[in-house]
Amino acid sequence: MNRNFVFAVILLTTLSIVNAIPHQLENITYYQCENYPILTISLEPNPWVSGTPENYTASGQIEKATTKETILLILFAVGGKVIGNFYQQPIPITPAGSITVTANNVLTPELPSTYANIVAISDTIHIKDMYACAITYIGY
Ligand SMILES: *[C@@H]1O[C@H](CO)[C@@H](O)[C@H](O)[C@H]1NC(C)=O
Ligand SMILES: *[C@@H]1O[C@H](CO)[C@@H](O)[C@H](O)[C@H]1NC(C)=O
Repeated sequence: MNRNFVFAVILLTTLSIVNAIPHQLENITYYQCENYPILTISLEPNPWVSGTPENYTASGQIEKATTKETILLILFAVGGKVIGNFYQQPIPITPAGSITVTANNVLTPELPSTYANIVAISDTIHIKDMYACAITYIGY
């Protein structure tokens, strides 16, 4: 994982926070990241719990085929920093169209009162290589 990618994502987060819509933790709603296709995210448990494993299912429509570099990226961020470790999982090469990726037992870090969660399908380095992405804001 190239650090530049993460910084790009965090920058995206920071910029996007201006448009954050306040909501309650009980009903997590994910939004599109910039102009990328949105991912529909299922969480088990819902919502996530600090320090416990989380199962994610991300599905959506991608406009181009993924590559052998493509990963599912999951991270929590606040104040321009990743909380704990980000998660990355290689995914099979998938043609343009429907995609569903499952990630099981992803450890949720200790979460502060405000943060963002990002789930993205992307190649490792540049944000321009994203295929689809979802972001949600908690506590803003
Ligand atoms: C939470 O989401 C469910 C499913 O979309 C919806 O039916 C319910 O009204 C929402 N609850 C609140 C408090 O917004
Ligand atoms: C997450 O997935 C794993 C593997 O399928 C399963 O063993 C575990 O029970 C799941 N956790 C939850 C909270 O559903």
